Formats: sequence, structure tokens, C-alpha cells
Amino acid sequence: MDLRSMTERVTLLGAVDWHRRLFDSLIPLPEGTSYNAYLVRGSEKTALLDTVDPVMSDVLLTQLSSVPRVDYVVAQHAEQDHSGALLQVLERYPQARVVATPKGKGMLVDLLHLDADRVDVVVDGDRISLGDRTLEFIYTPWVHWPETMLTYLVEEKTVFTCDLFGSHYATSDIAVGDNTQAPAVVRAAKRYYAEIMMPFRKPLTRHMERLSAYEIARIAPSHGPVWDRPALILDAYAEWVSGPPHNSAVIPFVSMHGSTRALVERLVADLTTRGVRVHPFDLTVTDLGDLAMALVDAATVVIGSPTVLGGAHPQAAYAASLANALRPKALYASVVGSYGWAAGAPKALVAAMPALRLEILDPVLVQGKPRAADFDAIAVLAETIAHKQQALEL
Ligand code: FEO
Repeated sequence: MDLRSMTERVTLLGAVDWHRRLFDSLIPLPEGTSYNAYLVRGSEKTALLDTVDPVMSDVLLTQLSSVPRVDYVVAQHAEQDHSGALLQVLERYPQARVVATPKGKGMLVDLLHLDADRVDVVVDGDRISLGDRTLEFIYTPWVHWPETMLTYLVEEKTVFTCDLFGSHYATSDIAVGDNTQAPAVVRAAKRYYAEIMMPFRKPLTRHMERLSAYEIARIAPSHGPVWDRPALILDAYAEWVSGPPHNSAVIPFVSMHGSTRALVERLVADLTTRGVRVHPFDLTVTDLGDLAMALVDAATVVIGSPTVLGGAHPQAAYAASLANALRPKALYASVVGSYGWAAGAPKALVAAMPALRLEILDPVLVQGKPRAADFDAIAVLAETIAHKQQALEL
């Protein structure tokens, strides 16, 4: 890959990982990803912002073979997909200083065994002059770890955001642009937000407010293309982070012999006729990223699970655990499911979501195969959900 110029003084380096399909041994990557690093050349000094995942360090080092001097390596985030090539870069440039937050310094030392003496610590608002270019550091904890910071290139009104506003989206384009790929990148960014950023909505609200004070011409994340129309992603985040929940219900379910599935199918139909947008997910075939994305906006979560060995089906328990970890803005929850001789699934599933402030709606539990009265109970649940969501004036 050649060096790709964003502006006269800013170059996009890093690697596009076209074929990676799993991140953190957890997150599906249907469209690959990229690890962006940025080279900023001032009239006096040169800074490299972030590095790449260690599996692609050779790509970055090859790119840097035409860069004679790097004075600063800004480690905006210590996670290895951005810091993984740091030691090799420092070996290439023995005079270079690492720039990190105080927490970032400690994490880089722990994670990489980086020599602490090579780190210059910066705090919120600190600036480094590169001559005719200036880097200002904005401390933004929890996007995505507690040490994370952004970097504002003052003269170019560019903010480098590492994970924040990122997308797992492999492309050969530098920027999103105004072409036909923009909706696909926004969708990838929503998936990314759901999987990585949604648990941190509270700090995100503060960070968004702070960023509104900056004049921003472009947003350069370390995953996915650059946002050359910042409003595209800023407006989307404002809605995802702070907008009201939508009139929609997410229904992750698993069924062993068809009874729970029958309840879910009736619930889907009954909610649909009442004007509630429904997102059912058969957990045996679901991409968890799609489920996470649906959780971004939904007002209600209904989990469909049979009772297995006195508790929830493990697939349903996993979905509840995931929802609890991602902390969506949902307000209501319920459980529907069939059981043979004991009905333990609802209690187990509700207990698995302690972090969510949910109003629990009466579950619908059926012994064996659903009868007419059970479908009537599903209709009541659908009516309750529709009524509550309409009352929110969604
Ligand atoms: Fe892309 Fe939190 O690392």
C-alpha cells in the first residue's frame, strides 16, 4: 500500500484488514476492518498517530521506510490493534517520544512492556507544536478504555478519534465521501457503536458536548474511512447516544421443539399489527452484531426461551448477558417460552440483566405446546408493549 495523502501535511498510513472476520475473539467483522495510523508533518517535527494491529505491523513498517524521521508517536489508545506495532516503530526511530495520557502510559507499559522512560505524559488540553502544525490532546475516557484520548490538529480542524466514530469497514477509499458507499459506512459505524461504544453512553454524552465546541472539518478514526462530512457521523451518534428509544421491539429467541418459536411468531404478528417495528433473532443463526445494532434503538426487549434444566436456554442466557453488557436504552422487557415441568427461564433471564433499568412486563409461560389461551396472553403482552411505547410518543 502506498502512502495516501489526506492533506498536504497529513498522510493516511496503516493497514486494511480485508479478510478478518472476528475481533477480540468475539465480534463478527462481516466487512473486515482497518487499522489507521496518521502521519502529521509539521515544519519542524513529525508525529505518527497510532500504529496498527501486530498482525499487520509489516505493512506500517514498509510504509515508514520512506519516512526519515518521526519525533512523536501519539498513542491515543493502548489497545493492541492500535499500539501493537509501537515497539517496532520505536526501534526504527530511537529518538522518538511516545505521547500518552497518564493511564495510557501505565497500560502501554503493562501490555507491551514499553520502556516508561520513552513516554511523555499529556493531560487534557496539552498541546505539542510540530512547527506550523499543532496537536491538542482531548482526554476522553471510555472511548473505548479509560485511558483514551483524541487529538485535534488545530490548523487543519481535523480531529483524530481512534476508536470513537470508527467503523469496521474495509475500503480502499481514504474518506467516506458523498458517494454511494456512505450509507454502508454509516451502517458499519452503527454496528461498531453498538458493539463497542454503547456501554459508554454517559461519558459519550459528555464527549459529544465537548466536541461541539471545536470547529471540525474532518474526523479521522483509526478504524474505517475518514468522515470528510463530519455531520454524517456526528448527527448519527447524537441520535444513537441521546435520542429517545424507537417504537420497536427486539426479540432474541431460541426454541427446542417449536413451542417457543410459535409464541414468538405470534408475538411478532401481534406487535406488527399494532404498529410496533419488530426485530426477531433466532439465536441459533444470529450474527450478534445485528442483534446489538437492533438494541441501539429498541424500547422493548422480549427474550424467547424454553426452560432448560431449571433455567434459561444457554443461548438465551447469552443474549441476556450481552444486552446487560451493552446497556441499551430499552425501557421494557419480558420473556415468553415453553417449559415441560418447571418454568425457571424468566427469573434467570431477568437476573442476568441487572445493569438495565427495565420495567418487566408479565411473561408468557406455557406448559408444553401453546393453546388458544396462551396466544391470547401473547396478544395481551403485545397490546401492553404497544400501549406503553405509544405513551412515550415515539
Ligand atoms: Fe480499536 Fe479499543 O481498539
